[in-house]
Amino acid sequence: MHIAIIMDGNGRWASQRGLPRTAGHRAGAKAVDKIVEAAARSGIDTLSLYAFSADNWHRPRAEVGALFTLLRRYLLTETKRCVEKSIRINVVGRRDRLAPPVLRTIEHSERSTAHCTGMNLRIAVDYSAQHSLLESCRLMAAEGRVDRARFKEHLAAIDHSATVPANVDLLIRTGGEKRLSDFLLWECAYAELYFVDSFWPDFDGNAFALALEEYGKRERRYGNIRVSEQHIARAGHG
Ligand code: FPP
Repeated sequence: MHIAIIMDGNGRWASQRGLPRTAGHRAGAKAVDKIVEAAARSGIDTLSLYAFSADNWHRPRAEVGALFTLLRRYLLTETKRCVEKSIRINVVGRRDRLAPPVLRTIEHSERSTAHCTGMNLRIAVDYSAQHSLLESCRLMAAEGRVDRARFKEHLAAIDHSATVPANVDLLIRTGGEKRLSDFLLWECAYAELYFVDSFWPDFDGNAFALALEEYGKRERRYGNIRVSEQHIARAGHG
């Protein structure tokens, strides 16, 4: 099972408490710890977290700096724990605009956990699905033929993804907004969408379990008719 999360609401969580936005991001990083643990415990195969979108560069310099400091700190402190829990870390997105120390930390975390066979933890940084799709199209055009499997290989290479794009089963967005914000647009083709009002720093193991419970109630049809109706249709009565 592949779960993707848009971790929204750090800023509002902070302003509700009269704190600077960066305090919200710090609290958000703690929530990341908890949810990674909860997901690994629940036997989730892949967890994709949207940590920094390509459009987040437009935020104030100090906030961008704080987000990258938190990301680096997270990777520096959690890599060892991920090895212990056999969690493979993979940072997906562009790398050409990242500062060398960030890049080195990412590469170190990926190298150290490359052998891990438990959950895949994918952290999206400087990520834009539209950018990745367009770049993959550019590579296809250069090759002169369009092929789905090849396209997915290109997409993985552009995203620095350790695996070819895996369909997202459940997309969770916290913070009350109901949009995809350029996250995993190809992979979310058949994703079940789950929107929750709580701000990301308040999203805990219980909230995660509720999302899984709701997902369990959804019937996934992939364009087909309901399972309960398929036997009737097959018998020619449908
Ligand atoms: C959206 O909230 C959140 C982000 C842009 C950053 C998410 C980052 C973290 C949770 C912490 C660092 C990540 C890791 C993996 C350690 P917002 O700021 O847009 O909230 P708002 O909509 O209330 O302003």
